[in-house]
Amino acid sequence: MKRDTTVLLDEKRIFKPDVETVERAHVKNWENEIEKGKNFEAYWEEKAEELEWFEKWDKVLDETNKPFYQWYVNGKINLTYNAVDRWIYTEKRNQVAILYINERGDEEKLTYYELYRQVNKMANGLKNLGVNKGDTVSMYLPMCPELLISMLACAKIGAVHSVVYSGLSVGAFVERMNDANAKILITADGTYRRGKIINLKKISDEALLQCPTIETVIVLKHTGSEINVSDLSGREIFYDRFLEGEPAECEPEWMDAEDPLFILYTSGSTGKPKGVLHTTGGYMVGVATTLKNIFDIQKDDLWWCTGDIGWITGHSYVIYGPLLLGTTTIVYEGAPDYPDPGAWWKIIEKHGVTKFYTAPTAIRHLMRFGNKYPNIYNLSSLRILGTVGEPINPEAWMWFYKNVGKEKTPIMDTWWQTETGMHLISPLPSAHLKPGSATKPFPGVDADVVDEDGNPVPLGKGGYLVIKKPWPAMFRTLYEDEERFQQVYWNQIPGVYKAGDMARKDEDGYFWIQGRSDDVLKIAGHRVGTAEVESAFVSHPAVAEAAVIGKSDPIKGQVIKAFLILKEGYQLKTKLIEELNKHVRYELGPVAVIGEMEQVEKLPKTRSGKIMRRLLRAKESGEDLGDTSTLEE
Ligand code: PRX
Repeated sequence: MKRDTTVLLDEKRIFKPDVETVERAHVKNWENEIEKGKNFEAYWEEKAEELEWFEKWDKVLDETNKPFYQWYVNGKINLTYNAVDRWIYTEKRNQVAILYINERGDEEKLTYYELYRQVNKMANGLKNLGVNKGDTVSMYLPMCPELLISMLACAKIGAVHSVVYSGLSVGAFVERMNDANAKILITADGTYRRGKIINLKKISDEALLQCPTIETVIVLKHTGSEINVSDLSGREIFYDRFLEGEPAECEPEWMDAEDPLFILYTSGSTGKPKGVLHTTGGYMVGVATTLKNIFDIQKDDLWWCTGDIGWITGHSYVIYGPLLLGTTTIVYEGAPDYPDPGAWWKIIEKHGVTKFYTAPTAIRHLMRFGNKYPNIYNLSSLRILGTVGEPINPEAWMWFYKNVGKEKTPIMDTWWQTETGMHLISPLPSAHLKPGSATKPFPGVDADVVDEDGNPVPLGKGGYLVIKKPWPAMFRTLYEDEERFQQVYWNQIPGVYKAGDMARKDEDGYFWIQGRSDDVLKIAGHRVGTAEVESAFVSHPAVAEAAVIGKSDPIKGQVIKAFLILKEGYQLKTKLIEELNKHVRYELGPVAVIGEMEQVEKLPKTRSGKIMRRLLRAKESGEDLGDTSTLEE
């Protein structure tokens, strides 16, 4: 989503933190901490000391084989040991680790000790199935405790998890499952969404017809829909049965800091989805440090990140960050506005949530219902707010600040990506904030805005956002595609990581993220690849060719605008439009929100046959077409 920079250039408001926030904070002086972070390796070494290692590293960072950086070389550690086991020997043993809430009002609490037992049972069950260190286990589950348990169980035994977002549908699911070569899938009967139950089992059954590697399917009864043992095929087993008789003790696997932890698929502008691979030690250090300091996690906090576990936000900040810090994390299943647009504020009041992290699209959506709903509830427990996923427009920032934070609660606008694993550009609570700016790189992170050759651009001018030094939670490669890893991210601008976003820096060194520099769409904060949407369109018999661009939307940020060349005899009329909507939804899921379809005779292409989406975007927004010399005709 490109932002209206003229408005942003006028944005001069500055918000300073109140004394109490700063006094309480782990980091009381933002600028000093940034200075400290310039002593880069020493900074990240000190942060790693906060975790429990079985064996310490020989070297903090190994840069000999760029861009295949290694962190905490030869260190031995286990994530689940740090996130769960170590707390049961402390006063946190009986503290709530996971507070699960759904939109129907059901609640379930799991203490650290209960979580420990559940994770161990699952870990033992997986071992009995023959899952070894390095094997991949896929999950297609709702936001529920069993998803966290399954992921933690994998991390405990050194298996690699690959979570497929439960909002993705058959086509997207098949592609991700097959790329990861998983033998085991953990899924559920359904998930709650806006008063309905989405039947995940049905979607996974259809998908599995095209996934030959899957040998075992573990099925969680979650929504209680009618599935009986007799309905299960020979390779399926119910989750409860699977855990029956498994011991509640399991030794953690000693993982090398660089052993794989998980694969998470995300979209690029071309080709199939990318299997972003994260490893163990550096990822743990990165997520724990950022969450602790950006959201100032303290003993008495109640943390709520509304992001879905199927995306990186959930991996890093619903599960791993909070549990590594031994805090209580809320896992919420449902929509933000169901049963009414006060649903989230009601939960904040009822449980006394102190830190609340959500997406700009959710804020814009809830803003539509006015100030009424946040004002019904007492939100005074809140101390810090945060946003992620896309640029936040200053109006939404101000609404959040005034109506939710009551002008007392700083907002952490955190910029990061699936690939970065952790926040990279974000304020700390002691920072001075400007609405719409993610402020400055996190201490120990080196980011800049440059031109195509890597030269810094003048202040105020737009350019490519790059990261100039490695960071601990960085992805290590794309699963089974090292070439694409190097080509897409590291070989484009010499010596740096090209993030895929445009940005500018202002005179105070604050970063203003302007949106993607490639063809990736951001629909309600979800990352959707143009190539995936186009191939979903052309898999319909009526469509010969498709080109897709993002179209601005006041709530979702962007929605899809599709230009379609139809096969002979087809016209884009109501019935076909409905059918295409349904078809794309079946292939990709509700994330693919289509705003408009247009039938065209031709698509602008380069002489080598690549669709020039840039021209379609320019035409759509009435902008100048720019350089058209590579256009075919
Ligand atoms: O365009 C940026 C946008 O989200 C992209 C990364 O998407 P994904 O990998 O799905 O991860 C989202 C959650 C971390 C980025 O390239 N983005 C993310 N956070 C922000 C943002 N854009 C502006 N401001 C942000 N705070």
